[in-house]
Amino acid sequence: MTPPAFEGLVPAPLRAAPAPGVTWTLGPDTRIHTSPGSAEAARIGRYLAELLRPATGFALPVEESDDRSGIALVLDATVGAGDVPGDGDEGYRMEVAAGGVVVRASHAAGLFYGVQSLRQVLPAQIESATRVDAAWVVAGGSLTDKPRYAYRGLSLDIARHFFTPEEVKRFVDDLARYKFNHLHLHLTDDQGWRIAIDGRPKLTGVGASTQVGGGKGGFWTQDDYRVVVAYAADRFVTVVPEIDMPGHTNAALVAYPELGCDGKTYKPYTGTQVGFSSLCVENEQVYAFLDEVVGQIAALTPGPYVHIGGDEAHTLTPARYKAFMARAQKIVEKHGKQVMAWHQLAGAAPVDGAVLEYWNSSAQDASEVAAAAKAGAKVVMAPADHVYLDMAYAGGEKRGVTWAGTVSVKQSYQWEPSTHLKGVPEDAVVGVEAALWGETIRSMDDAEYLVYPRLPGVAEAAWSPRDARDWDAYQPRLANQKARWDLAGVNYARHD
Ligand code: ACM
Repeated sequence: MTPPAFEGLVPAPLRAAPAPGVTWTLGPDTRIHTSPGSAEAARIGRYLAELLRPATGFALPVEESDDRSGIALVLDATVGAGDVPGDGDEGYRMEVAAGGVVVRASHAAGLFYGVQSLRQVLPAQIESATRVDAAWVVAGGSLTDKPRYAYRGLSLDIARHFFTPEEVKRFVDDLARYKFNHLHLHLTDDQGWRIAIDGRPKLTGVGASTQVGGGKGGFWTQDDYRVVVAYAADRFVTVVPEIDMPGHTNAALVAYPELGCDGKTYKPYTGTQVGFSSLCVENEQVYAFLDEVVGQIAALTPGPYVHIGGDEAHTLTPARYKAFMARAQKIVEKHGKQVMAWHQLAGAAPVDGAVLEYWNSSAQDASEVAAAAKAGAKVVMAPADHVYLDMAYAGGEKRGVTWAGTVSVKQSYQWEPSTHLKGVPEDAVVGVEAALWGETIRSMDDAEYLVYPRLPGVAEAAWSPRDARDWDAYQPRLANQKARWDLAGVNYARHD
């Protein structure tokens, strides 16, 4: 059997140079050597061993050593100083020769991505959870790789339907496989508040007791959140928490009606309409509440961003919206974090360093986002008509929604982040994020069906060099991934 080629990797690497006729075989005596003195390299070595043991049944001992036989994970400060300017923290090189595989990187994240590539150049059976009698042959050659964009994310809505920390960890594993490095958690919405806040028990009492369609909902304790953050960090994934405001706040208003205007009362909401709720802009109690919530979330989050939503505040005038966002942004800054928000913030004076997440379809709102970007805001591209993975497939079963149209596998692949929004300077675009909104997603099976096979295409938009992105050339590479999902028991859609 021909081993998978370096050129078959998803996301496509920066450069691959096969060495025809050279192979290396992972065997029962293979050892994993990691740079002496580096706890991080050793940890990544153990992670790799755990990935490879179930299918191979090999012991794969991990030891700190300068030995370069077998598999070597080498921290090497000179990687990045050579012929690939700006390898940065995430670049790596991999050489497969007859004596073994050497992965070199200047930082641990690069070693981790090298490990993900090694996994993909092993035969697909490596994904089996049980032992397979296979020849674990790897094609020889070298790989020089680094990401195109610094921000490569997936936004996951655990508010419309609740997902447990264990389920979300599975998404983190999916992200790691495709070299994503951010997990954006949409923690609050009209239908449910999903994160415990000390001193605000009703948020996770009545506020968390519903979801779309009327199920029982649920919430994460702060310890649950810490566990997911740590699990993600071990996989070089930064959690970006989102507390959506001033709209999408019905669950908070049910819990604490005093955050509304004029003594109104609120009822739990289990539908799927958007844009009807708002915190009261002129009410000082709102800002005290946000200070508590954002303060606790910021303290729990090692990553730089707190996402404050800001989308679909349809009940507010532009002036009231702007007044609210000015104060909300200050609260984020007060707690030492950088503002991230949906792109509606573009027209409401984003603070210095704010990151706008562009989500509309058909380049709607492009001029506002372009003006903000020209004034210094950064942009993460999440156009709904390409990377909202809750959109139904064109030929698909009735799962997902269609407000931005259907999104085929090709449409999720074939778009260009740097030119998608006219007028946005190329260097303002810092990355790409897929989103999975939860209105119709009741299970991991639903989620995987919508995520696969579209997620790896988004990974290419985020990681791969622009000139490596070609739909026709992608087909066999995507087919390789499907063989792996079959073996790993991942659900995926069978249409285009
Ligand atoms: C969004 O889809 N309302 C961000």
